[in-house]
Amino acid sequence: MSGSITRFGVIGTGRITRRLVADLQSTEGVEVTAIASRSGERARWYGDQYGIGAGVEGYAGLLKRDDVDAVYISLPPSMHAEWAIAAAQAGKHVLCEKPLTVSVAETIAVDDACRDAGVRWLDATGWLHHDRTDAFVGWLDDQRFGKLGHISASVSFFQPFQSDDHRLDATLGGGCILDLGWYAGGLVRFATGKLPLWVSADAVMIDGVSQRLTAIMGFGDDVTATLSCGYDTATRKWFEIAGSESSLICDDFTRPWPDRPARCWIHDAAGTVQSETFEGHQERNMITKLVGDKSLARYQRQAIDTQTILDSLQQSIDAGGAKVSTPRPF
Ligand SMILES: NC(=O)c1ccc[n+]([C@@H]2O[C@H](COP(=O)([O-])OP(=O)(O)OC[C@H]3O[C@@H](n4cnc5c(N)ncnc54)[C@H](OP(=O)(O)O)[C@@H]3O)[C@@H](O)[C@H]2O)c1
Repeated sequence: MSGSITRFGVIGTGRITRRLVADLQSTEGVEVTAIASRSGERARWYGDQYGIGAGVEGYAGLLKRDDVDAVYISLPPSMHAEWAIAAAQAGKHVLCEKPLTVSVAETIAVDDACRDAGVRWLDATGWLHHDRTDAFVGWLDDQRFGKLGHISASVSFFQPFQSDDHRLDATLGGGCILDLGWYAGGLVRFATGKLPLWVSADAVMIDGVSQRLTAIMGFGDDVTATLSCGYDTATRKWFEIAGSESSLICDDFTRPWPDRPARCWIHDAAGTVQSETFEGHQERNMITKLVGDKSLARYQRQAIDTQTILDSLQQSIDAGGAKVSTPRPF
């Protein structure tokens, strides 16, 4: 795709779609040529609203189009694997919303389908692509950080539901484990660079849908992590990564607060605080990487491992909070 215009088709007309379409349209080398909905009328209405030429009835119709090189999938999580695989088989590159799928088996199937078709894929987890995230890596490697000890990550939104929200429907992959655990579990995988040896988790469930997740995990070498996610507390999108010499702290890692630069702090044992801010646009960076030609393997491994962690959390919850060993990578 590198060096020419990549034409995107959008699958789904949900509330995140508007923002991502704007990000696609404002990324150099990218155009949005079509949008598909279950309803032809809605597709045409959104096409008009977003300045997209073609509104297509049905997702399969979009995949048949010659003016689509890549798709952005913004459907409920239980539908991601089906349409990501169909897109790959139609020869389209894939940008799929988080959680990539609802299980690691599905995620591996997406990876296999894209590999077989020779197309590129990314999950739309913007924070991984912010320039600040590269700076996190630098800090964790810095001798002033010391040895990694503990990570805590908290992600919540208070009752972020619309009517008939897929987040409240277990059959559509609803619940905070997949929705918000994707961020918190992903942060822990990012900070350690590996899977935990074991996890133990508890969830508050309503009608079979997780509303709150609390988890602890161990990585060996005295490295541990705790997660807190849910729909029953005010917005939190922060972490603390504690080393033997200082801690890296961020209060907006999933997405910078509106109208403020991305920020983080390094606190040392003497109470000295170094404050850092960053400009840049995480979604445009992400899209640029997808349409470029550099390897995406590290992001794909991050997604597969994150899904593995979420599977293990669910397994522990199903076992009443028992310590569960995390399966080793495929
Ligand atoms: N990266 C981020 O920052 C971010 C933020 C929010 C959400 N997300 C993710 O984006 C995805 C979509 O979330 P959203 O909040 O945009 O969802 P949403 O508003 O509910 O939209 C989902 C879209 O999927 C289509 N759909 C197909 N079958 C459906 C069904 N049975 N029930 C409901 N919708 C169905 C609908 O479009 P048509 O009917 O027009 O086909 C609908 O507009 C989720 O995976 C979510 O986790 C990511």
